[in-house]
Amino acid sequence: MVDYDEELAAETERVYLMPEIVRQRAKTIEALNLRAGEQVLDIGCGMGLLTRELALAVGPTGSVLGIDNSQPMLALAERRCADLPYIELKNESADAIPQADSSFDAIACTQLLLYLPNVAQTIQEMHRLLKPGGRIAIVETDWRNVLLECDDQPFMRQLFAAWEESIASPHLPGQLESHLITAGFSAVKVDAIPLLNTSYLLDNYSGQMVAYSLRVGRKSGAVTAAQADNFLAELKQRSAEHRYFFCVNRFLFTAIKI
Ligand SMILES: C[S@@+](CC[C@H](N)C(=O)[O-])C[C@H]1O[C@@H](n2cnc3c(N)ncnc32)[C@H](O)[C@@H]1O
Repeated sequence: MVDYDEELAAETERVYLMPEIVRQRAKTIEALNLRAGEQVLDIGCGMGLLTRELALAVGPTGSVLGIDNSQPMLALAERRCADLPYIELKNESADAIPQADSSFDAIACTQLLLYLPNVAQTIQEMHRLLKPGGRIAIVETDWRNVLLECDDQPFMRQLFAAWEESIASPHLPGQLESHLITAGFSAVKVDAIPLLNTSYLLDNYSGQMVAYSLRVGRKSGAVTAAQADNFLAELKQRSAEHRYFFCVNRFLFTAIKI
């Protein structure tokens, strides 16, 4: 289980401020096609980066409710959203959201479902919470599709597999359309959002993700200290020699409740 304590909350915030994820947010906002005055729910709102952008899109005649079950994440969101009183933030769990049926015009749910064992139930909840005609945007990643140039491909696969083992539903993109249709959604569409780096930098997306996966692998015992050091040294050398290439796709699903 991933515990979003203060350290992981701060680290996630750093990563989610990077240009790769700024672009992902812009695509998510665009896909929701929000109008002034709409009521929006952000499930697993984290540090409030998307929540704030949703609120700016609907303006003060609308409202945004952000829910998350991590207090450190909500503390960051509260700071970020303090100047927008039409944002409400609540400590709630995604599988039982205590809101009336048909409360929202739009729901955003980005990089949350992978942590949940009961994804189908949460998607049914989303359907219940949307008004007829309401729109949903979900972003998820499948780390089996990571492309990272390195000498030891089996080690790289093992590294990302160790990270996936720490989450409940790591392979969702291929299952989401079926979950959405089963829950009653229509007009399901999917788009890929590549997170692409051709340099190894500590402050780009892949640098952070490799560091995080190595830490998870070290903790679980799947990766030794020597393996981690050698892997990082190789990636730095590849980057210096213009032989570094990292890409993983995120998938943006949109659908409508008829
Ligand atoms: C990777 S962050 C994504 C944050 C945000 N959606 C974004 O894209 O910027 C995942 C978030 O899901 C939250 N989360 C995980 N399990 C949850 C649950 N069962 N109910 C509510 N939030 C949850 C975590 O606390 C964390 O803030």
